[in-house]
Formats: sequence, C-alpha cells, structure tokens
Amino acid sequence: MIDCVVWWSAPLPNEQRFLRLLDETEHGRHVAYRQELDKQRFLTGRVLAKTLAAERLGRAVEAIRFDSACEDCGKPHGRPKVPGADLMLSISHSGDLIGVAATSGTPVGLDVETAKRRADNSLIEYALSPAEQQALHGLTDDERATAFFTYWTRKEAVMKATGKGLKIPLQSITFSAYDKPAELIVSSDSALDPARTRLKDLKARDGYRAAVALLTSEDINVTEVDREF
Ligand SMILES: CC(C)(COP(=O)(O)OP(=O)(O)OC[C@H]1O[C@@H](n2cnc3c(N)ncnc32)[C@H](O)[C@@H]1OP(=O)(O)O)[C@@H](O)C(=O)NCCC(=O)NCCS
Repeated sequence: MIDCVVWWSAPLPNEQRFLRLLDETEHGRHVAYRQELDKQRFLTGRVLAKTLAAERLGRAVEAIRFDSACEDCGKPHGRPKVPGADLMLSISHSGDLIGVAATSGTPVGLDVETAKRRADNSLIEYALSPAEQQALHGLTDDERATAFFTYWTRKEAVMKATGKGLKIPLQSITFSAYDKPAELIVSSDSALDPARTRLKDLKARDGYRAAVALLTSEDINVTEVDREF
C-alpha cells in the first residue's frame, strides 16, 4: 500500500511570516504576478509544500529549498523537488483553494479546479474521449459541469504525475465513469500505463473537483487534511 497525503489551504495573506520562506527565485516569481490573488496562490503553494516537506523530512521549514527547474526549458516554473530527498510533491491551485500532494518517492500529480464554471460543448469535445463525452449525455448543466471537471482533474492529475503535463493529448486517455471510483481504463500515450496508474477523486471543498494520481501498480491510501496556519 502506498501512502499519499494531500494538504489543502485557503489563500494565505502576503505577510512576512510566509514571504520569508521564499528564496530569491521564488520572490521573483511572486512579484511578477500582477493580481494579488495570483501572488497569494503561488505563495500558499510554496508555504504548504515547504511545510509538508519539512514535516516529512524532519527538517526546519526554513531549511527546505526547492529545485523547480522545468523539465522542458530549465526555467524555475516546474514541479518542486527537494534535491537528494525521496519525496515527491505536486502543487495545484484554483479559485480560493490550494493543495499539495506528497509521497515517499512515488510519482504523484494533484489537480484541483473550481467546478462553478460552465462546461460548454467545445471544451467537452476538446478534452474528453468519445466514451467520456457519451457519459455526459442527458445531464443538467450543473451535473455536466461536475462530471466534466471530474474527468478534467483526473486527466491533469495523471499528466502531472508523469511530469509532462498537458503535452499528453487529452483525448489519448479514458477514465471510468465520472460517478464510479476513478480508474484509468485506456491510454494510447506511452507515458501512461493503466496497469501502473492509480488515482482517487478527492473531497477538496464544496464547489471544487480534485483528483490525485500516483504512478504505481500498488493500492494507494490517500489522506486529505485541511491545513491552517
Ligand atoms: C503543469 C500544468 C498541467 C499546470 O496546470 P494548471 O491547471 O494551469 O495549474 P495547477 O495549479 O494545477 O498546477 C500548477 C503547478 O504545477 C506544477 N508544475 C509545473 N510544471 C509541471 C509539470 N510539467 N508536471 C507536473 N507539475 C508541474 C508547479 O508546481 C505549478 O505550481 P507553481 O508554479 O505554483 O509551483 C501545465 O502548466 C502544463 O502542462 N505544463 C507543462 C508542459 C508545458 O507547458 N511545458 C512548457 C513550459 S516551457
């Protein structure tokens, strides 16, 4: 059984007690965001991830430094890693909810999305495989949005677990029905093997859909925690 913990938080204020945890590169990213809420979401992702890493590694939070080099271009906007540590992290933010997932070395991907947006036909046709589109027939607008964002967060979660993100074609993978336990059924992309992919739809908060994915053939045990600072 592989354990995975997911911490959730509302956006933290841009206060010194949190800002002091950012290194120079992270400060640069923080100031570059124009919207206050974007700054807060970025800051909260880092504070959550560093606090969780510190707890798991038995270090002081001030001592946690991330390498966030993008696997494509080397710029510091990739997934965070603690050099030399057997710890995998995944950050996601949407609306007023920020999450981080952690495992002891198993590749992990987390995605959260506000489900208050409408899921229009062009988005559905762009993102869902024919079998998934079929499952949305006959639903009310609200039900369709919930079902669509269930599929969407599952897709982003598995893609983030591979580190490739949205470079994997959205339609190349098909999941179990939105109202059934999350399972990757079909993948025509070599980065994702259904036999080695486990995922779970998360509770997150009302008005949000979220999923976490681990690249493993073992069963997974996921714990969600509301973290307050
Ligand atoms: C990763 C990705 C799916 C983000 O999706 P999103 O819904 O906009 O944003 P989320 O809030 O869920 O996730 C953002 C977090 O994903 C993480 N992340 C970035 N790149 C990632 C990747 N390739 N794989 C996994 N996680 C990644 C980061 O931690 C980021 O948060 P941070 O910048 O605050 O640290 C999307 O940006 C993507 O596909 N990127 C990789 C491919 C790409 O575009 N490469 C070209 C860049 S040179």
